[in-house]
Amino acid sequence: MLELKNISYTVDDNGKDKEIIRDVSLKLEDDRFYVITGPNGGGKSTIAKLISGIYKPDSGRIIFDGTDITDMSVTERAKAGISFAFQQPVRFKGITVKDLITLAAGDMTTADACEYLSEVGLCARDYINREVNASLSGGELKRIEIAITLARSTKLTVFDEPEAGIDLWSFNNLIRVFDKLHDKIHGTIAIISHQERIINIADELILVADGRVTKTGSREEVMPLILSETWAVDSCDKIS
Ligand SMILES: Nc1ncnc2c1ncn2[C@@H]1O[C@H](COP(=O)(O)OP(=O)(O)OP(=O)(O)O)[C@@H](O)[C@H]1O
Ligand SMILES: [Mg+2]
Repeated sequence: MLELKNISYTVDDNGKDKEIIRDVSLKLEDDRFYVITGPNGGGKSTIAKLISGIYKPDSGRIIFDGTDITDMSVTERAKAGISFAFQQPVRFKGITVKDLITLAAGDMTTADACEYLSEVGLCARDYINREVNASLSGGELKRIEIAITLARSTKLTVFDEPEAGIDLWSFNNLIRVFDKLHDKIHGTIAIISHQERIINIADELILVADGRVTKTGSREEVMPLILSETWAVDSCDKIS
């Protein structure tokens, strides 16, 4: 189980402190499928980066399976069993798809690595030796990142908008991929998404807005709030 306890995170916004995560407390239980949703700029990706260790909170603690991981690095958290797939995946010049999958899963055969690419609808023969560089399209990169995350199959996996840039045909398969991962790891999957079809497969929804968790619960409990909200901008300083 992952627990965020009173997490706050402030950035420097042109010389001014801007609190983008405000006292967030959250529990992600084992063997559950969460979808984190909410308006653009609400703080979802920032929460994911706080969980994976890319950002360190200004206050609060993060507990994973009873261990305080707040001061652990990204690598230490990855070793402890946390995976994170970025909203905008990172490219690695000079490193091939096979290198990354092998790195993620430890020792494995090329055939096994290819299996993960097939899972995300990529023809393994065409991609296994490709460099993970700017020549890959956005959707290809996104799928490769999902394949790497599947290869890792850690206790907790956070996907940041995995559907972004994925075509409609693959989208159907993506849902199947999440189901399969859920069956395999019996751990926790948290998907950040705006897509109703992904929201529909969640055990629980987490609504994040304005740097806060504003509601958690079943689809029936959270969806009406999402649909009724106007997400209006309530203040905007004029540029002088
Ligand atoms: N370094 C920074 N300086 C200023 N503002 C920042 C910085 N980093 C993040 N923010 C702001 O923090 C807020 C939360 O960003 P975040 O990326 O977590 O949102 P999100 O919920 O993932 O949005 P989306 O649905 O668009 O992906 C945004 O308003 C963003 O502009
Ligand atoms: Mg985001």
